[in-house]
Amino acid sequence: RSLDSQSVQNGILPVIAHRGASGFAPENTIAAFDLAVEMQADFIELDVQMTKDGQLVVIHDTSINRTAADGPEETVYVKDLAFTALQSYDVGAGYDSVYEGQRIPLLEDIIRRYKGKTKFLIELKSPELYDGIEEAVAELLERYKLANVLYEEVILQSFNFGSVAYLSQLLPQVPLGVLTSRSADLTNRKLDKISTYADYVNTHFTNVTQDDTLVGRIHTRGMRIMPWTIRAPGEVQPLIRAGVDGIITDYPNYVK
Ligand code: G3P
Ligand code: CA
Repeated sequence: RSLDSQSVQNGILPVIAHRGASGFAPENTIAAFDLAVEMQADFIELDVQMTKDGQLVVIHDTSINRTAADGPEETVYVKDLAFTALQSYDVGAGYDSVYEGQRIPLLEDIIRRYKGKTKFLIELKSPELYDGIEEAVAELLERYKLANVLYEEVILQSFNFGSVAYLSQLLPQVPLGVLTSRSADLTNRKLDKISTYADYVNTHFTNVTQDDTLVGRIHTRGMRIMPWTIRAPGEVQPLIRAGVDGIITDYPNYVK
């Protein structure tokens, strides 16, 4: 796999709002995504998992407890709840009372709300827990005519490399990325293998600042790199100087 370099956002460095503008609003909520669009983020990053009844939902943790202010004491997993049950939880109030009433969104609702207004960096979170999640995502993208690379409206990514390799068969035209924080995954040997099915190697930003050969080694293999997660203004410039292809940040206003 290798992307046409002409399609790199016309030379403008893409800014990706991590879980929405999650530095200012509760992560993975409409409030955070609306704010990201207001801040002119080029992409919104979001985490997708699947409910017991097969709905694709936007939430980072495999359990609801950290983000649901009104959740129970015991651990409740996304995979064990139907979508209607999951919707009973408030994922805004714990961040700030002004966000009370925010709900866990459906991926489909996010696509309908923001298609044409921003682009989507969709992470399949822990896909090993969800049989059929790759097919469900592929079906949704095809239904919304997002399964071709023409405008690069969607990038899919995962920490699960096997899932990314499988997606490359299901969605041959959609740009794909692997996620890793481990420098051991970034050897030339490993990058050679990754380049057979992925277009992006998105890693923790300290791997870029600690290894000045990394961006070049990824580019040489026809891939791009968008590091995460930038949470301080001073972290941006060294990454731009290193030649990265996008900035994944909780604070899109640091870069825009
Ligand atoms: O997009 C990269 C980043 O989202 C990966 O880490 O834990 O925030 O999903 P995490
Ligand atoms: Ca993520």
